[in-house]
Amino acid sequence: MALNMKYVREQFPGLKNNWIFMDNAGGSQILKGVMDKIQEYYYSNNVQLGGSYEVSQNAAKAFMNGRENMVTLFNAARPEEIVFGPSTTVLLQFLSKAMVDQFSAGDEVIVTITDHESNIGPWVWLEERGVIIKFWPMNKETYELDLEHLDKLMTEKTKLVAFTHVSNLLGTINPVKEITKFVHDRGAMVCVDAVAYAPHRAVDVRDWDVDFYALSLYKVYGPHHAALYCRYDHMEKLASLYHYFYGRDKIPAKMEPGNANYELSYGSGAIVDYLVTLGEQAGETGSRRDKIVAAFEDIEQQETILCEQVLSYLRKRNDCKILGIRDGKDPRRVPTIAFTIDGKDPEKICLEMDKHKIAIRFGDFHARRLADNLNITHDNGAVRVSLTHYNTVEEVETLIAALDQILGT
Ligand SMILES: Cc1ncc(COP(=O)(O)O)c(C=O)c1O
Repeated sequence: MALNMKYVREQFPGLKNNWIFMDNAGGSQILKGVMDKIQEYYYSNNVQLGGSYEVSQNAAKAFMNGRENMVTLFNAARPEEIVFGPSTTVLLQFLSKAMVDQFSAGDEVIVTITDHESNIGPWVWLEERGVIIKFWPMNKETYELDLEHLDKLMTEKTKLVAFTHVSNLLGTINPVKEITKFVHDRGAMVCVDAVAYAPHRAVDVRDWDVDFYALSLYKVYGPHHAALYCRYDHMEKLASLYHYFYGRDKIPAKMEPGNANYELSYGSGAIVDYLVTLGEQAGETGSRRDKIVAAFEDIEQQETILCEQVLSYLRKRNDCKILGIRDGKDPRRVPTIAFTIDGKDPEKICLEMDKHKIAIRFGDFHARRLADNLNITHDNGAVRVSLTHYNTVEEVETLIAALDQILGT
């Protein structure tokens, strides 16, 4: 079913200024509901948790409410599987630190060439302990990660495979369930970066059976805050990052040293409320979780229209190289579209685009190793147009007209 675009856009006050936001993989606009909830927290519950008094008890309930909403968003089994933190970068650094004692010299960890550095660097650190890091290469024709390459890399020493659900440069959805089964069958764990996936499709950590799964809420229409899912049996094994009197059994507090941000954790619950409302508008009458799934079906429908609108334009240009799947209707594609134009500097294209009040971005997007692999790092990377469901066909028409002006028809 088509999204009610009037309703959708009204939920994002930032869309009312006269910019067109197409840098959503950098960060999305924030829902009014999230801001309201953050404010409500400050007005009603702004005290430290752990006190005996009523307001402190209420604050603890609000924080837990934030975690429970993440359970619904991730489809996790229990709130203790959710860790809040300031960013995915920090959460994955924490995770690697909390897992250090699970690795011995000679163990192997596989990372991919297509990931954002957030899900590579923290694992490369393990080299200091004698862990061997291997890179899962990309198929340069298809821009995909092939299991046959992974098969060649995995040995009985492989403990963990860290990969991205969607590359923030290529926009290709990796088959997370299939990869996870492949890795589990060979006795290793997976750590998945879902930052570029979560704004576009429903997450289901239980269906996919992933071990660790991280996303940034500020790209899923929320605040600058992030959440990491750790399957409970893995969570139990993590070392404590908190004070010495917070042992391994202090779950998940041991992974939130100094406490997570209460108000942003609580406020992020409004992301789920919003998705539930979209699901209801789609006619879904089941659980909150069912409504989220229905919402993302409609989100996908809108995004597919926009994605193909941009890609069909770019395909027609014979000076354009699209990085990633070229067909916007391919269900493995999200509307995070990076491209280069022969002889044109990505920075200059973006500076020109600024004059049209269309927010896009250039660079390597911190997927530096991928940009190196594509040989674009020294040319200011690529131009990236990253759309989300609140973008409209009219906005994409304006983008295309601006591209025609900047690049020539
Ligand atoms: C795919 C991907 N992973 C990780 C990150 C890092 O997220 P954060 O800013 O929350 O650390 C980003 C940010 O752009 C990203 O796009």
